[in-house]
Amino acid sequence: MDTSTPHSARLWNHWLGGIDNFEVDRVAGDAIAAILPSIVTLAQEDRKFLRRSVSHMVGEGGIRQILDIGSGLPTANNTHEVARAVAPETRVVYVDNDPLVLVHARDLLRGAPGVAYAEADLNDPAEILREAAKTLDFSRPVAVTLLGILHFLRDDDGALEAVRTLVDAVPSGSYLVIAHGCDDINTAEANRIVEFWNERGVPKIKYRSAERITRFFAGLRLLEPGVVPCNRWHPDTDTGDVDVNQFCGVAVKD
Ligand SMILES: C[S@@+](CC[C@H](N)C(=O)[O-])C[C@H]1O[C@@H](n2cnc3c(N)ncnc32)[C@H](O)[C@@H]1O
Repeated sequence: MDTSTPHSARLWNHWLGGIDNFEVDRVAGDAIAAILPSIVTLAQEDRKFLRRSVSHMVGEGGIRQILDIGSGLPTANNTHEVARAVAPETRVVYVDNDPLVLVHARDLLRGAPGVAYAEADLNDPAEILREAAKTLDFSRPVAVTLLGILHFLRDDDGALEAVRTLVDAVPSGSYLVIAHGCDDINTAEANRIVEFWNERGVPKIKYRSAERITRFFAGLRLLEPGVVPCNRWHPDTDTGDVDVNQFCGVAVKD
């Protein structure tokens, strides 16, 4: 593990108030927050969106299988905890390619049958599907969640292809959930953040427009309100005036 280079999983953990990060991550995270203070709210709103979208899919959508790719370091309201609060039998596979996430995930998941962790890379979706099939039944609906990860696949065609491979592998009744860095708002700050991060941190990032993010849902039925800042997706608390630069959407495969 390289502790001299800021890493996205540990940076995120810092913004969420966690302790699983290093000085180098905290320095970078604070410098980015100085450029765009709402970045800390962005991380919090992404997690709230995870809670609301997973609760919705398991509750109203009847989903009992979730493939959470780019799971990140465990924090409050992890996907399996949110899902199992609604339906305790829900099976969850977490995927990440960061070694520190692996260590923490093993700890978190010890003694949680039906919840698994796979160390794999979104650039190789076929490998993710092979690993997930050890725990999930792909003849039944699966919710594929890609929160805060697709912007690390900077090649547009490669990112679309990875999503398409995952969507093609799941049957009708399945869901696709995305949260993705967006440069439609706070554009100058967003560009500075991307430049700052790509000079120092890993993996390198690419923010996309809402229109580009919407393309990931091609062929699926995008639920209302469409692709919006995370704090605008069916908020259950007052989200204030600040829209965050993380845009999100939930879609169903009919
Ligand atoms: C910003 S965190 C998001 C964590 C969580 N999904 C959330 O929304 O709170 C992004 C995670 O994606 C992981 N990641 C980045 N690129 C990846 C890739 N190509 N394959 C697998 N995981 C990746 C990072 O290691 C990190 O844990």
